[in-house]
Amino acid sequence: MVSAALEIVVSSLVAGLVYIVYRLLRVPDNLRPFPSVPIYKLVKWAFWSTTPRAQYLEMREPLYRAHEVYRIWNFGRWKLIFNNPDHIHQIYRLTNSAIDKVPLTSAANYSAITTFLGNGIIFAGLKDWHRIRKVVNPAFAHPWSTEEFGVCMQRLVQTVRRQMPDKGALIRVDRLIKRVTLDIFGKVLIDYDFNCVEKPDSPYAAAIIKIMDEITMPLFSAFPFLDLIPGIRRAQLYRDIATFDELLFSLIQTKLQQQQQPGKPPYPAKGSSDLLGMMLDASDAKDADRLSPKELRDNLTNFFVAGFDTSAASINHWLFMLAKDPHVQARARLEVLEAMGDELPWDAVPTSEQINGLKYVNATIMENLRYNPPISLTAGRMVVKDCQIGPYHVARGTALGMHLYALHFDDRLWTDPLAFQPERFLVTDANGSNDKHNWLPFGMGARKCLGTNFAMQEMRVITTMMLRCFEWSLPADAIYADIRSPAFGTFSPTDVVLNLRARL
Ligand code: HEM
Ligand SMILES: *[C@@H]1O[C@H](CO)[C@@H](O)[C@H](O)[C@H]1NC(C)=O
Ligand SMILES: *[C@@H]1O[C@H](CO)[C@@H](O)[C@H](O)[C@H]1NC(C)=O
Ligand SMILES: *[C@@H]1O[C@H](CO)[C@@H](O)[C@H](O)[C@H]1NC(C)=O
Ligand SMILES: *[C@@H]1O[C@H](CO)[C@@H](O)[C@H](O)[C@H]1NC(C)=O
Repeated sequence: MVSAALEIVVSSLVAGLVYIVYRLLRVPDNLRPFPSVPIYKLVKWAFWSTTPRAQYLEMREPLYRAHEVYRIWNFGRWKLIFNNPDHIHQIYRLTNSAIDKVPLTSAANYSAITTFLGNGIIFAGLKDWHRIRKVVNPAFAHPWSTEEFGVCMQRLVQTVRRQMPDKGALIRVDRLIKRVTLDIFGKVLIDYDFNCVEKPDSPYAAAIIKIMDEITMPLFSAFPFLDLIPGIRRAQLYRDIATFDELLFSLIQTKLQQQQQPGKPPYPAKGSSDLLGMMLDASDAKDADRLSPKELRDNLTNFFVAGFDTSAASINHWLFMLAKDPHVQARARLEVLEAMGDELPWDAVPTSEQINGLKYVNATIMENLRYNPPISLTAGRMVVKDCQIGPYHVARGTALGMHLYALHFDDRLWTDPLAFQPERFLVTDANGSNDKHNWLPFGMGARKCLGTNFAMQEMRVITTMMLRCFEWSLPADAIYADIRSPAFGTFSPTDVVLNLRARL
């Protein structure tokens, strides 16, 4: 009796589950004609997180050659992914008219990524986006001095030096680089010093770094509902989010008290980059417009997500590429030494003028961003008015994305795309252009990365100081032949151990 009842319960549970999965995975009619990345491949990628390069070569490249556009199940819905350069440019041009971003909260709002990001700038739809951009644009509208980036980098150089009993050591650099970009982000943009290069145990830094590592885990990006199932749900991740919220709310509180003091200087002060101060001041004017701490918090987490892991990913890739290619490293170092000399103090911060003269170093950064775009797939878009993309009629309500990776490895656009060749960014053809038109690691158009100049300057300072202070190579027994990505979101290398040698 009992077992019969149990059987009925279990089989109806299974039937219910199958129905839910069927409903979830059902392809909308208008997307049916498009070729699809099979679900089993997504599951495979989720468990054996491969690199975007491997995914591209295995699955997307053949689809691309044959079809230019395919559909993929991603973050709880089917999306069209466009690969053709002309279509990608067209989508960027349609942004803010026929195509908008979709607030994350519109799907799977229980998921960790939505809990963390809430409704902020990255996925904000047109109306919210205008409001926030008006407020934060001034923070990014001036040239960045090298000094503040450099000061954080000096702490890294000295910390690494302390870990070297002699002049060389095996150092795991990926964590250090994440911490230095977090320190820079905090000091420059929110007036908070994580100081996590020197104090790696800082609980807030540990929380945000873990959040970034886990929030876009492929399995949960493909199947967000897993975060609803007890036992599978990433409980620790939700606790880390709560820990980080403590910091954000306390920063908001402190800033709020400062702002309310009589005689405080008005924002935006010229040259200021204090994001939180700007957001508070913008909401100061009328009580009705005042943003709640929760809204401020959502807007802040978005900047964290956009602003430090991406740069760290890129710098880690760069270190790896130059370790694999000692000639490129030597040539870049020579350029730095010619500009800055080779005398103590060994951790001198390069000036903006010096940095601007470093054409080859700049080319290595550009080529690295082509070769390893930290955001290889820009998704999160929605067609809000029926439109035509290339030969395709795309209906309102269709979710879509662009495959920047395909763009950067298209052999019709780039000569020998699989080769790492910084030189390609030194040459310009007779008409003063080269294939940079299709170099889009920061996207383009209205929703282009707001932090482009910040990130470029940050990367220039960090790479220049690394080249002057150290030489590096891959250890003989390096277990990584190519760099693995832990995530669907940022293409970010893990476990980068380098053989570092101090130069001065
Ligand atoms: C190498 C480093 C970086 C890369 C490769 C990168 C890349 C991108 C890309 C591709 C987008 C557009 C996403 C899309 O179209 O769906 C984006 C948006 C954005 N990025 Fe970055 N980013 C970097 C660093 C930064 C930094 C340092 C900041 C801020 C400090 C930042 C702030 C933003 C913001 C606020 C947006 C949203 C812009 C909007 O929708 O108006 N990014 N980034
Ligand atoms: C999530 O979405 C559901 C239904 O769409 C809604 O009832 C709920 O209030 C949302 N929760 C949050 C936190 O936005
Ligand atoms: C912050 O986010 C809210 C949505 O949560 C949005 O309405 C507001 O305009 C944003 N902007 C600023 C400056 O905080
Ligand atoms: C870096 O290289 C790009 C591509 O060649 C070029 O457009 C840009 O002006 C360069 N920047 C600097 C500071 O050299
Ligand atoms: C430069 O532009 C002219 C006219 O548009 C074109 O015919 C020529 O092929 C271009 N040269 C190169 C090297 O792309």
